[in-house]
Amino acid sequence: MIKKITTADGSPTLFSDEYGEPYHSVTAGAFREAEEKFIKPCGIYERLEKGSVAVLDVCFGLGFNTIAAVKAAFYARRPLFVLGFEKDIEVIKASIELNWGKMSPFKFLLRGLLKNCLIEGGFLTLNYSDGRIGVKVFIGEGRRVVKAISDRYRGFFDAVFHDPFSPGVNPELWTFEFFNKICGMVKKGGILSTYSSSLPVRKALYMAGFGVREGVAVGRRRKSTVAVKGGRTVLPDKLMEKLEKSVFAVPYRDPFLNDPPALIKNRRSGCIFLLNTEYPVECIY
Ligand SMILES: C[S@@+](CC[C@H](N)C(=O)[O-])C[C@H]1O[C@@H](n2cnc3c(N)ncnc32)[C@H](O)[C@@H]1O
Repeated sequence: MIKKITTADGSPTLFSDEYGEPYHSVTAGAFREAEEKFIKPCGIYERLEKGSVAVLDVCFGLGFNTIAAVKAAFYARRPLFVLGFEKDIEVIKASIELNWGKMSPFKFLLRGLLKNCLIEGGFLTLNYSDGRIGVKVFIGEGRRVVKAISDRYRGFFDAVFHDPFSPGVNPELWTFEFFNKICGMVKKGGILSTYSSSLPVRKALYMAGFGVREGVAVGRRRKSTVAVKGGRTVLPDKLMEKLEKSVFAVPYRDPFLNDPPALIKNRRSGCIFLLNTEYPVECIY
């Protein structure tokens, strides 16, 4: 069941009963979040000035992050390719029914996607192409999609919009193994941007081959995260120390990229429990 909500900037979003979370930050605003947490930190405007840009949209959802990138490319008159994935096609259909206000002219993209469906590698894909802008959305479970396409798109993407629900409810898309696969598909110097500031997420990104930095705070006090492939990790001293030493930095793990979310959460809690437990000497021998 999904409910409509109006966010702080007047743009609409939905609330997911399954995950118990809205699809966008209500306090930041849905379209503002796309711009401030994804488009700007990934340097999309600067990249478009130099030429064509390829974006991986992790969790297409209502399509707002992709739409913001398409809008940027449309005004810059530069080529853009976005590859996204989403497990629930109904969300895309529901998005079209919302009042997008001044972004409404960009609904052509979702309508175009839903009109051009193909089967590729066992997945349903939605496709849009007008010569300069190309968008392909795989409908399916994210880890299965990434496993299927990671070789074909090795070192391909300039930017990644990483926007699942929060790690506590959607842990399968925040693991070391998942970020490692994503890292393989990004160019050196490519940027992954995500709203999460959590320690296990930053640690997983760091282990996966990204340099981690703090991003902006939009609609809340905590800052987001910007991860640069092959870059240096630069965090305030206190955060750096926590990243290196705190047991709470233990990342989510999913060795074969197919464990159920509850197992991924419990595996991490179990590790933290063991690391926090001092065993009496007689237990060790
Ligand atoms: C926070 S919303 C994304 C919002 C979106 N970026 C936008 O701009 O509208 C998260 C989305 O991830 C999808 N999702 C969650 N877990 C997934 C998974 N394992 N594989 C694929 N999609 C998933 C949900 O269906 C939901 O649409």
